[in-house]
Amino acid sequence: MRDSTREWVLAERPDGKPDMNSFELREHTIPEPRYGELLVRVRYLSVDPYMRGRMRDTESYAEPWNVGDAMRGGVVGEVVESKSDAYDVGDLVTGNGTWAGYSLLDADNASLVDPSIADLPAYLGVLGMPGRTAYFGLLEVGEPKPGDTVVVSGAAGAVGSVVGQIAKMNGCHVVGFAGSERKVEWLTDDLGFDAGINYKQEDDYRGALDDVAPDGVDVYFDNVGGPITDAIFTKLNLDARVAVCGQIAHYNDEDTPTGPRKLPQLIASRAKVQGLLVSDFATRFGEASEQLGKWVASGNLTHRETIVDGLENAPDAFLGLFSGNNIGKQVVSISEQ
Ligand SMILES: NC(=O)c1ccc[n+]([C@@H]2O[C@H](COP(=O)([O-])OP(=O)(O)OC[C@H]3O[C@@H](n4cnc5c(N)ncnc54)[C@H](OP(=O)(O)O)[C@@H]3O)[C@@H](O)[C@H]2O)c1
Repeated sequence: MRDSTREWVLAERPDGKPDMNSFELREHTIPEPRYGELLVRVRYLSVDPYMRGRMRDTESYAEPWNVGDAMRGGVVGEVVESKSDAYDVGDLVTGNGTWAGYSLLDADNASLVDPSIADLPAYLGVLGMPGRTAYFGLLEVGEPKPGDTVVVSGAAGAVGSVVGQIAKMNGCHVVGFAGSERKVEWLTDDLGFDAGINYKQEDDYRGALDDVAPDGVDVYFDNVGGPITDAIFTKLNLDARVAVCGQIAHYNDEDTPTGPRKLPQLIASRAKVQGLLVSDFATRFGEASEQLGKWVASGNLTHRETIVDGLENAPDAFLGLFSGNNIGKQVVSISEQ
């Protein structure tokens, strides 16, 4: 008889901003791995903005969950049963699992983590999917050149904080939008951003940009959409590049917001606006992981995680993304026995 574990499932589809009614914590028997699978005791799990899209039954850039399905996401944990020749019991791995104490991972899509490079939670942030998104999104879509002004929205989050630092390594003038003084100080004092704009204290985003990006914007890395993006579009330089990574300001909208309102700005600037999806770069993930790991190990890339303790608090951690509770990557630590 196998023991039981707790697992969060989607209880109902939210209408607008999700709340606790969308989630239910259920007990279930710890699953047995099949050939090619690993059973992992989860130490950390990732909550990410894109999961809001999976709670809808309409198309987003990720497949919808069914009501009653386990909430899924990136996890880091320890292999307790292995049905794969590539992994042994005791290995520390990361992969796509569930919001649970114990979770099955597909061995083909899992990878070992190396705690000598960074602590385990970093493998869900700078050394995980968000880090790779920043790496490919900025370098391949943003195409930064030395001397460019790069503006990043959602700058103090998991993706944005890495984008800004890679832009600095490429000789750019970097400005970040973030939602508190504490976040702006982190960007400028610890991460080397040239300037930060606290958009929750500033009414005139365009005027604030005139001060800190007087030469206009060559690359805009958009994590949020909404009025921040509207303002930045009015500052795009000739041949600017806009990497559309996320639109969190709209994820809880039930109606499509009116727009696109600022497209006329693209005519004079001849700017290129391009959506990006990190999975399109899957064949090059090894390259990104190696480079990001080197930067982290050498201290050239700073990272931070906001850790909420306890599986029972995973929905709160997720909901907190929409009010900006996290600095750096939001993760949940799990210590189920
Ligand atoms: N395309 C892809 O392949 C891909 C991959 C990963 C992530 N993404 C997207 O990239 C974005 C960032 O993801 P992440 O994991 O790094 O999340 P994150 O930035 O760590 O967390 C979300 C942050 O968004 C900000 N925010 C929330 N509501 C906002 C609003 N209405 N206006 C402005 N800012 C708001 C909050 O910070 P403040 O305190 O600053 O408001 C919050 O901390 C998300 O939109 C996500 O969906 C896309």
